[in-house]
Amino acid sequence: MSCFSHSLFVFSLISLTSIHSTIAADAGLVGVNYGRIADNLPQPPKVVELLKTQGLNRVKVYDSDSAVLTALAGSGITVTVALPNENLSSAAADQSFTDKWVQDNVVAYQPSTQIEAIAVGNEVFVDPNNTTGFLVPAMNNVYSSLVKYKLDSSIKVSSPIALSALQNSYPSSAGAFKSELIEPVIKPMLEFLKKTGSYLMVNAYPFFAYTANADVISLDYALFRDTTGVVDSGNSLKYYSLFDAQIDAVFAAMDALKYSDLKMVVSETGWPSKGDENEVGASEVNAAAYNGGLVRRALTGGGTPLRPNDSLNIYLFALFNENQKTGPTSEKNYGLFYPTEEKVYNIPLTLKDLNSGQSTPVNGSKSQVVVAATPPTAATGQTWCVANGNVGEEKLQAGLDYACGEGGADCRPIQEGSTCYHPDTTEAHASYAFNSYYQKMARKSGSCYFGGAAYVVTQPPKFGTCEFPTGY
Ligand SMILES: *[C@@H]1O[C@H](CO)[C@@H](O)[C@H](O)[C@H]1NC(C)=O
Ligand SMILES: *[C@@H]1O[C@H](CO)[C@@H](O)[C@H](O)[C@H]1NC(C)=O
Ligand SMILES: *[C@@H]1O[C@H](CO)[C@@H](O)[C@H](O)[C@H]1NC(C)=O
Ligand SMILES: *[C@@H]1O[C@H](CO)[C@@H](O)[C@H](O)[C@H]1NC(C)=O
Ligand SMILES: *[C@@H]1O[C@H](CO)[C@@H](O)[C@H](O)[C@H]1NC(C)=O
Repeated sequence: MSCFSHSLFVFSLISLTSIHSTIAADAGLVGVNYGRIADNLPQPPKVVELLKTQGLNRVKVYDSDSAVLTALAGSGITVTVALPNENLSSAAADQSFTDKWVQDNVVAYQPSTQIEAIAVGNEVFVDPNNTTGFLVPAMNNVYSSLVKYKLDSSIKVSSPIALSALQNSYPSSAGAFKSELIEPVIKPMLEFLKKTGSYLMVNAYPFFAYTANADVISLDYALFRDTTGVVDSGNSLKYYSLFDAQIDAVFAAMDALKYSDLKMVVSETGWPSKGDENEVGASEVNAAAYNGGLVRRALTGGGTPLRPNDSLNIYLFALFNENQKTGPTSEKNYGLFYPTEEKVYNIPLTLKDLNSGQSTPVNGSKSQVVVAATPPTAATGQTWCVANGNVGEEKLQAGLDYACGEGGADCRPIQEGSTCYHPDTTEAHASYAFNSYYQKMARKSGSCYFGGAAYVVTQPPKFGTCEFPTGY
């Protein structure tokens, strides 16, 4: 077992000089949606302080409120603003409208407020007032206005779509957009995004799929907990989370229309901490597991099985519980924080939180429990990277092959007859190789990932008498 080929081993020796060009994927980015459908939220300057103390440096809002954009000035927090659905028809009708809108809501705040994108409408295809026909013309006009004010290279134009834009999402490889949307709006929108160097925004909620099908979907799979994985019968790719499967269904739908080169940002995702009796799965423990697992997933790098090299950029939904939202109880309970700024539950939000293990959920996924179980050694600040034995032989072997091959890890000590050959298990060998790679990469964020098969620890790993090197 666990004998990687000699050719891979030889390759590892000659590729040491090109490690930097073969990093799998950088860490993704985590932002938060700052929704304000509530009458009890803190004033914007206090909210900006909260974001800063939490290390959240990307925010998305649902309008272009002056108090909010002013409070964000000079904060170092980048913001995605929105042109609401109710203004789409005006924006579509006339560029003089978008010129004025961009001037009043973007130009007026730039550059002290760092606006990085404009969401034109939100989930337009499910707007009861049917604003679908206005979407692409409105996006075009907003873009033309940005060109006019020379902001087109710094600000992207996109529009968050709901997962319900898909006709099929299972298996992921069969992902397809609703046929009635394809010609009128999907193709023109994807073409617009490609032409302007923008990206698709997708709102994805595994919670909806889970709560509607709790009898057939495993809760662990929905919550980023360790599972044996689900194989996509269409392409044999293996999924370890419903979130990844949903995102890949969208990628497959884009592939089917030949837009494989477009990037995606997950503009909303989250899990409610409370729900009505029939909203199976809504609970604090589950919300902490989902959001905590997602943050870890994004920050430790790596993409989905279909797009392994595209790091995941996500916006959590949402910053606060919003007491004036209508609909089921869950709608008011997606927040990470109460309006008092108290945490609804404790999860890591930054890489620093993750590595210190200080901010772990009460009852999160197994891998988070592993982090919590290793007391932080803040005194030395040293970290190591080890394999997660729970992900299974196949994933460990794939990671091991990568680390010792393209990754350029020093795998000589785990060759037969060398110091770290024993114990002769894939987990031990993979741990050695993952750590070697991680240390060579100067413990850069995202360099301890290996498709989810690795995690960072703050105590020296113990496998037989093998010594794991630390930082250079
Ligand atoms: C957007 O629509 C709302 C509702 O119709 C309206 O009150 C508001 O003035 C519009 N905004 C602009 C900039 O025209
Ligand atoms: C639909 O349009 C009507 C009339 O313009 C407006 O009062 C209502 O708020 C709109 N509904 C939504 C969901 O936008
Ligand atoms: C919404 O409007 C578009 C065109 O603007 C039309 O093609 C579509 O059939 C409408 N959808 C519904 C549900 O009315
Ligand atoms: C990901 O990047 C690696 C290394 O650059 C490359 O070999 C591989 O083909 C890429 N995979 C995909 C799916 O693009
Ligand atoms: C954690 O989860 C376990 C089972 O998954 C459950 O028995 C226990 O009560 C939970 N603990 C808390 C604090 O919710």
